[in-house]
Amino acid sequence: MAAVVVNNLSYCYQKGGKKILKDLNFTVKQGQILAVMGLSGSGKSTLCLCLGGIIPHYLGGEMSGQVLINGQDTAECKIARLALEVGIVFQDADTQLFSPTVEDEIAFAPENLCLPSDQIRQRVDAVFDMVGINHLRYENTNNLSGGQKHLVAMAAVLAMDPAILVLDEVLVQLDAVVKENVVEILLELRRRGKTIIIVEHDLEAVTIADRVLLLEDGMLVNDGPASILQDKELLARYKLVM
Ligand SMILES: Nc1ncnc2c1ncn2[C@@H]1O[C@H](COP(=O)(O)OP(=O)(O)O)[C@@H](O)[C@H]1O
Ligand SMILES: [Mg+2]
Repeated sequence: MAAVVVNNLSYCYQKGGKKILKDLNFTVKQGQILAVMGLSGSGKSTLCLCLGGIIPHYLGGEMSGQVLINGQDTAECKIARLALEVGIVFQDADTQLFSPTVEDEIAFAPENLCLPSDQIRQRVDAVFDMVGINHLRYENTNNLSGGQKHLVAMAAVLAMDPAILVLDEVLVQLDAVVKENVVEILLELRRRGKTIIIVEHDLEAVTIADRVLLLEDGMLVNDGPASILQDKELLARYKLVM
């Protein structure tokens, strides 16, 4: 079964308003890294909100078509249930962090899943090790640098152990060393069978993708292997730079 199936997905934020996503159709196989690219305003973040079920559950507007996550229709599935399947790291890490310390932030999700305390500890420790942020464990989240906030936001999402991880323009904001670290983490997650969706306009950041979708003004204009990133003419047409 595909991890993600998007069928004829269209969306506008206001009823009768401008269509932001236009009849999108694509699937993502389990264990794939998919890059979603396109210029600013092309609808990438809106698509992320659809994948996590925030659209249609929390935002009104008009959605048509279907998003299936591991076979479950997001419109019919409770958002708390979906949060176990799809973890999204948002563009703005500040909106995602709310606990006083890094440790609290990362323990929050496993505690809310009501896991036994030894399992919570195990999961939290494993995430600290994987992301390499043990030195930040007792820091106040307000005192972190931008890059550290993104790492902590990602670690908090990984603590949910979601089958599908979505990064919305996270890589582009990281410095070279941290980015390399995150890329290694993503490759390890793929080895473990996780499905990863990387939303970026920075081509360099998505060289690990198995497949690339290009969005232009809410439309899917290309769906192909990562080798399309070598196609200079195509890149120029969609104003994507290396
Ligand atoms: N909450 C909102 N209400 C109305 N329009 C929105 C909202 N969020 C985004 N948009 C519009 O949707 C379009 C796509 O935005 P977005 O999905 O953020 O694109 P991207 O992530 O590719 O930059 C833009 O024209 C943007 O102005
Ligand atoms: Mg965006």
